Amino acid sequence: MNIALVTGSAGLIGSESVAFFSDKFDLVIGIDNNLRQYFFGTDGSTDWNRERLKDQYSNYQHFTADIRKVEELDPIFRQFGADIKLIVHTAAQPSHDWAAREPFTDFSVNANGTLNLLEMNRQHCPEAVFIFTSTNKVYGDNPNFLPLIETDTRWEIDASHPYFENGIDEFMSIDHTKHSLFGASKVAADILVQEYGRYFGMKTGVFRGGCLTGPNHSGAQLHGFLSYLMKCAITGNHYTIFGYKGKQVRDNIHSYDLVNMFWHFYQNPRAGEVYNAGGGRHANCSMLEAITLCEEISGNKMSYSYSETNRIGDHIWYISDLSKFKSHYPDWTWQYDLRQTLEQMHDSMAQRLLVQ
Ligand SMILES: NC(=O)c1ccc[n+]([C@@H]2O[C@H](COP(=O)([O-])OP(=O)(O)OC[C@H]3O[C@@H](n4cnc5c(N)ncnc54)[C@H](O)[C@@H]3O)[C@@H](O)[C@H]2O)c1
Repeated sequence: MNIALVTGSAGLIGSESVAFFSDKFDLVIGIDNNLRQYFFGTDGSTDWNRERLKDQYSNYQHFTADIRKVEELDPIFRQFGADIKLIVHTAAQPSHDWAAREPFTDFSVNANGTLNLLEMNRQHCPEAVFIFTSTNKVYGDNPNFLPLIETDTRWEIDASHPYFENGIDEFMSIDHTKHSLFGASKVAADILVQEYGRYFGMKTGVFRGGCLTGPNHSGAQLHGFLSYLMKCAITGNHYTIFGYKGKQVRDNIHSYDLVNMFWHFYQNPRAGEVYNAGGGRHANCSMLEAITLCEEISGNKMSYSYSETNRIGDHIWYISDLSKFKSHYPDWTWQYDLRQTLEQMHDSMAQRLLVQ
């Protein structure tokens, strides 16, 4: 039997992985305890998505286990053992700001939880491919020291800089920089995943995400900016922009495109490899540009205000360079541009909010 195991399966990337792999594997096992609701309140609950997966995918099996607890993981890995061929690890505490509220919780989920899963991988199914959703926050605020130029709607990098054409590559230093506690716990996990590849020769891959987005994000103020922005555009709720004149630039990748990267990696894995993963030059926007797009798509004028104080460690300009991944996996490319992603988010969210 071929099994894919997905942690954080009711979250944005986890649920996209379940959908993507359900017709490629005999069984898809999901692990998610809806800790996102504890982090972000009811806006962040992923209960609806877990129920949707159970209804839509007959070969999906859910476990409400906590990745911090080996005693809850071990029986699952023991039961399915070497039939597990792929592990997609997306469960996390995903917010900068939240991490500072409860550093123990943040670190135990992001760092210890990842170590637990790597050990389960090593002990029960060492041949399985292990994919980790890391983050561009591992580079800390190093990107903020690039030569940036202000335009009417965004910050942009100087055209003479080597990052101008394709964005930031994997060789930017992750050292000597302010990460936020979230960034630090993800660095710990990122390095562990690389190490299990390099030291033990296991098939581990690290994907350092830009902004990951898509219709199944449970957007909350502290995490999931495009999703939360579109939610505010639909509901008329107020949105606050934090710092950088609203001109901060993010690249955005649709969850499908990211999971498709995992699929390409799974079929031809490289031990301990690291890839930046985002919308790159293909799909990026500033906060102000995103607001304009959300207004156009929803047909509503947004209510928003500006607060001078930026989030600690927040990037001013970040665009991922995917050249390395594309050179290793030339058959992969993006299926969604930014407008398509936002339109899909709008339609599914409008429907979901109507039902509630
Ligand atoms: N969304 C982004 O913009 C973004 C950007 C870069 C990196 N990432 C990373 O990608 C991954 C997936 O992000 P996402 O947006 O899908 O997150 P998400 O919050 O939508 O999903 C994560 C899921 O993990 C679950 N979870 C959290 N702690 C758990 C625990 N201890 N045990 C079991 N389940 C637990 C949550 O309930 C949630 O359903 C995360 O590792 C995140 O750090 C996300």
